[in-house]
Amino acid sequence: MTASPARSVAGGAAVAAAGPPDLPVVIGHRGAAAVAPENTLASMRRAHADGARWVEFDVHLSGDGRCIVLHDDTIDRTTDGRGAAAALSFEALRRYDAGAWFAPQFAGERIPDLEELTALLGALGLGANVEIKPSPGAEKATAEAVMAVLRRCWPAHLPPPLVSSFAPLSLAAARDAAPEIARGYLFGQLPADWRRRAEALGCATIHCGERRLTPAQVAAVREAGYPLLVYTVNDPARARELIHWGATGIISDCPGAIIAALARSVPTLAE
Ligand code: G3P
Ligand code: MG
Repeated sequence: MTASPARSVAGGAAVAAAGPPDLPVVIGHRGAAAVAPENTLASMRRAHADGARWVEFDVHLSGDGRCIVLHDDTIDRTTDGRGAAAALSFEALRRYDAGAWFAPQFAGERIPDLEELTALLGALGLGANVEIKPSPGAEKATAEAVMAVLRRCWPAHLPPPLVSSFAPLSLAAARDAAPEIARGYLFGQLPADWRRRAEALGCATIHCGERRLTPAQVAAVREAGYPLLVYTVNDPARARELIHWGATGIISDCPGAIIAALARSVPTLAE
């Protein structure tokens, strides 16, 4: 199931878009966060087992500068530990369980670092949207560390990674550190000046929250030549609607369910 940047499900004029080729229609959010503990190796394996070709995950910096796969600024919600990630060393972070909070069978999962996650992606053949998720004040340092790891470790046989961020400072630092790696501008809600902002930072893709997105906004992004990834869509009917509006892809906590629903309703997407 491939979403060519030039495809227009909505029936509008096809546009040639800059950006990574071969974006999938469905990307697993934090792996497969509805059915496995988010941002763990188990979650990535589950997304792969459920048919996802790509996953999205979030990267923070530990106190000693390691790229760690974590959504929140603290480890409180997703581990049995407490504290700010930026105040804990990688060794300290690894003592905590990152799976048992979700379900007992995931006990023993640890917060991954970006190197080991990248190795797993290579073994599974999974592409990735790497979200740079800096703690306040660490926008530049987090982006620089992520790009250094991607340059050093990204498996050559995978499609090139797509990095994204809500933080303009991170996007600028990512561009300066590794301009050859495509960037996506993340918005909770699409602002009126989205295109100016994306052009200013040389972003290749637009990523947007699904709640207030309108068909006109989807059309505007696609007609401007940008692939559009919409998050977080867990309702199959909503995923179908967004794809029919012209969205390039859906980022979902339950990629297996969305892949199955889209394959049933839009047979040409099940390729
Ligand atoms: O990258 C899409 C989505 O993950 C952005 O929001 O808060 O889930 O990281 P969040
Ligand atoms: Mg994210």
